[in-house]
Amino acid sequence: MAFPSGFLDEIKNRVAVSDVVARKVKLQRRGREFVGLSPFKQERTPSFTVNDDKQFYHCFSTGKHGSIFDFLMETEGLSFPEAVERLASEAGLPMPERDPRAAERAQKQAGLVDVTEAAAKWFQAQLKTPAADEARAYLERRGVTQKMIEAFRIGYAPRARTALLEHLTARNIGVDKVIESGMAIKPDDNKAPYDRFRDRIIFPIADTRGRVIAFGGRAMQADAPAKYLNSPDTPLFDKSRVLYNFSLARQPAYDSGDLLVAEGYMDVVGLAHAGFHHAVAPMGTALTEEQIHLAWRMAVEPILCLDGDQAGLRAAYRAIDRALPLLKPGYSLRFAMLPPGKDPDDVVREGGAEAMQAILGKAMSLLDLMWEREIEAAPWDTPERAAALKKRLREAVNRVQDGDVKALYGQEIKKRLDKLLGNQPMPRGSGGGGKYRAQHTYRAQPTSEVRRSALATGADDWLPREALIVLIVFQHPAVLLHHRDSFEAMTLKSAVLDTLRFEIIDYFDGLDAQDATAQGLDNAGLTGHLMDRGKQDVSVRLANMPEARRLSFARLDADLEEVLAGWLEVTQLHHKLQTLAVEQQQAEAELENELMREEGNSQDALDRLLAIKSEIAALERQDSSVV
Ligand code: UTP
Ligand code: MN
Repeated sequence: MAFPSGFLDEIKNRVAVSDVVARKVKLQRRGREFVGLSPFKQERTPSFTVNDDKQFYHCFSTGKHGSIFDFLMETEGLSFPEAVERLASEAGLPMPERDPRAAERAQKQAGLVDVTEAAAKWFQAQLKTPAADEARAYLERRGVTQKMIEAFRIGYAPRARTALLEHLTARNIGVDKVIESGMAIKPDDNKAPYDRFRDRIIFPIADTRGRVIAFGGRAMQADAPAKYLNSPDTPLFDKSRVLYNFSLARQPAYDSGDLLVAEGYMDVVGLAHAGFHHAVAPMGTALTEEQIHLAWRMAVEPILCLDGDQAGLRAAYRAIDRALPLLKPGYSLRFAMLPPGKDPDDVVREGGAEAMQAILGKAMSLLDLMWEREIEAAPWDTPERAAALKKRLREAVNRVQDGDVKALYGQEIKKRLDKLLGNQPMPRGSGGGGKYRAQHTYRAQPTSEVRRSALATGADDWLPREALIVLIVFQHPAVLLHHRDSFEAMTLKSAVLDTLRFEIIDYFDGLDAQDATAQGLDNAGLTGHLMDRGKQDVSVRLANMPEARRLSFARLDADLEEVLAGWLEVTQLHHKLQTLAVEQQQAEAELENELMREEGNSQDALDRLLAIKSEIAALERQDSSVV
């Protein structure tokens, strides 16, 4: 952004370099200058000088030199416009207006920030009242200390329907503004507006400057319809462009050179309590491009802390795909895998800072995780399969936009592929084609197994049972209110249905908590989304499945309760059959082994295999009575 000429000079004239520097460096006057220890380097004799007349600082040991703006950029990681903005406000100068529309927007936002800031203060005060006894007990149970409550400005929204509205309007804030700021909801049917957040623990969300612009509210009861309720998108708040705790984490991240990206509010609070002040979190959605850029403003290789289960791994894979086109020299992501089912908050509470540190110490690079993803996706034990692996890796590398990074990714991948496929010593006596034969020990994991067969079946890989599972969610997206995670984690062999499933989850995740109630979630909205995403063919095919009419729980007019019962039955069957398929494979391998051994006992292995097969057959009969 260009500033009008004279504006920057005016700031420099009003704010002394020594005043700005003195907040970080102890300065001593020496003649016309000040001297101190360099903030850029560990040193014992002062080599850092400040000259207020010439309006610059100079560091003799590192050669760094610059203005007050440079100093803030260098020591706090601010961008240039941000440094200007900070110092302009110190100088008592209003920021120049960019263009009339931007000025108007800024004014509107300023008005709304008054509302959200006032709300934050009020929520904080409510947490101290007797009405918040339960809320305070809840926080205490979860190990949130008074210090954390204050640092994160945690508050409480009381149960009453319009308490915040009354408080704000009594302070001359118009009802319309309260609604526009997302703090109150106006029902469609002309009924009176009411508070959005009621009987919830409140986490204020701040913008990069630390002004509160939105909130996340946590229900205290385990069976509440939504665990967290967030502010909707407002002129102030676009959740895809904000990272929770950015403003507090920025300096610690800059100082340590590290940044942790966790999944939720409580993780950030728990990490800070354990001494990790450089942590942020997106708000319930997959990391967006804008959020990756924001994170890169704080540290060059942010570490994503992910639940070590299937869902966490999928989130990591999605982050890889988001980040590949954005990679640039020096900037990447790292991935720390937590124990399955644990989030960072659990880890520090159970094992302290050391436990977390140990996990962070094992963080993987983006390239390593990408490599692992493709290696695990399918075996590479025939020339065709190896070629497919190569192709997938090449496609991933081609998504990198930056020329240098792309070239180096290409080289590294080639090296690894050569090692994997080319130069493996052939086992003696294994005959021809040894390098592929060497892969025979490959043990398929359920997911890889699945994709392998999906590849093998080729053209139409539409499996009726899987189609039914997706159909139920398609007809009744409200199923996801209860089973989002298991829907995401479940294995779907059919590639068509697999991708459709993720589209549906994306749609669901993209809804505001407010819309994501049983009323707001219906087949029409989802169908519209799928059309937009070019998925009409699959949608039509689903909608035309005879089951959509034949099975009462798959019909559009079914009760949610009936739908959920049907869904559970089908998914449990699906899960059982998959487990059995893996067991069958193991039993077959065992049988083969026993047959090859001279004194092998093949009878037991054969019995086991037959038992598994008959169990599968029985379940499949049950399956065909449903599907
Ligand atoms: P988690 O379910 O991991 O919650 O969701 P958490 O942060 O560990 O919270 P606790 O420990 O159960 O209290 C991660 C983030 O996803 C968003 C929130 O931003 C949450 O912090 N989320 C989750 C929602 O927006 N709505 C929900 O219903 C659930
Ligand atoms: Mn948690």
